Amino acid sequence: MRRYFATCAAGLEPVLAAELQQLGATHIQPGRGGVQFCGDRLLLYAANLWLRSAIRVLEPILEAEVDSYEALYAAVRQVDWRDYLNVEQTLAVDAHVRDSPLTHSQYAARRVKDAICDQFRERLGRRPSVDPDRPMLGLNLHVRGRQVILSRDSSWVSLHKRGYRPIQTRAPLNEALAAGLLLHLRWQGETPLVDLMCGSGTVCIEGAWLALHRAPGLTRKWFGFQGWLDFDKATWAMLRSEARRRLRPRLPFPIWGSDCHSPSVALAVRNAHMAGVGSLLHFYVRDLRASRPPAHLPPGLILCNPPYGERLDVDPGQIRSLYAALGQTVQRHWPGWRLAVFAAGNTWLSSIGLPVVRTWSLYNGPIRCTLAEFAPAGKNN
Ligand SMILES: C[S@@+](CC[C@H](N)C(=O)[O-])C[C@H]1O[C@@H](n2cnc3c(N)ncnc32)[C@H](O)[C@@H]1O
Repeated sequence: MRRYFATCAAGLEPVLAAELQQLGATHIQPGRGGVQFCGDRLLLYAANLWLRSAIRVLEPILEAEVDSYEALYAAVRQVDWRDYLNVEQTLAVDAHVRDSPLTHSQYAARRVKDAICDQFRERLGRRPSVDPDRPMLGLNLHVRGRQVILSRDSSWVSLHKRGYRPIQTRAPLNEALAAGLLLHLRWQGETPLVDLMCGSGTVCIEGAWLALHRAPGLTRKWFGFQGWLDFDKATWAMLRSEARRRLRPRLPFPIWGSDCHSPSVALAVRNAHMAGVGSLLHFYVRDLRASRPPAHLPPGLILCNPPYGERLDVDPGQIRSLYAALGQTVQRHWPGWRLAVFAAGNTWLSSIGLPVVRTWSLYNGPIRCTLAEFAPAGKNN
């Protein structure tokens, strides 16, 4: 049994804690920007493979109080690094420093690397080399004030990089955040899902993976733990084939997206193909005001991430009327459908013009955002 820390966007902690509980983690403690938990090696691999809302999963090795780079160096020297690395292997250190006497994250990372390499050099006359892209031991250094946590990073490349979106679009939604929004809204595929401002299609693709029980890590080629000395290849292969077995062949309910910007829609189509769900999803070039639900479908969830204003170059008056148009369109033409909107701040909430059922405060990178769920539009409107 080991202690781990899974990181996530601030505001997704309850969702991540619920995901960990489902995977069988114990001692689950949500904190800010992540969740602490305990489990065995199988659980660590499963967390990387299955967590939809997490960014990375860390295994703390060292916790110390330091007030200088030299104290950091000395603390790191106390660890016996033969337990984690051999001299033929590669390493890298990723450091994040805040409100600390250690002001430079790159220099802090270098002192950690020096401490490890000096320990090897003194014992063996040789040292491991550095590979920042795909290190066999990737370390995460977290410094807040004097408190230092040095962890093995079992993911290394952020888990939101599922592998289906190689091209960045205008203001795309991070994959882990899109999945987290659906989980906050308790949508798991049991109703239709539509995104009327789908951009590159992230909400629809993450929704499809959720509804298909598709492990979000299944397409990824590599996770940090695969370079570790104690990597258990057989357990990992077993977990992956179990994940393939659980995959549903088709969606229980339709999922589709539309957007007025045709290059974004083309990208959504391409991303859906890359994600292996191209034949299951539908995307249309359409202004949201012209979107209507197919008559034969039961009502479902509309989840939209409209332009923020901060990120896309749009005038605030236009943004307000866009939110108002969204509220009016849903009110008039989508009876019984549940509308949820994710956007920066919360001043736009009143422009939608529908009663708010619930809101969640979340961060999209440094931007404080709100996810709001509105009362379903009346059936007789
Ligand atoms: C913040 S982006 C959505 C990003 C998307 N969630 C993704 O993952 O790529 C907002 C989107 O709203 C679309 N949009 C703006 N006004 C629209 C309208 N009147 N009708 C439909 N789409 C609109 C934009 O083209 C843009 O793609």
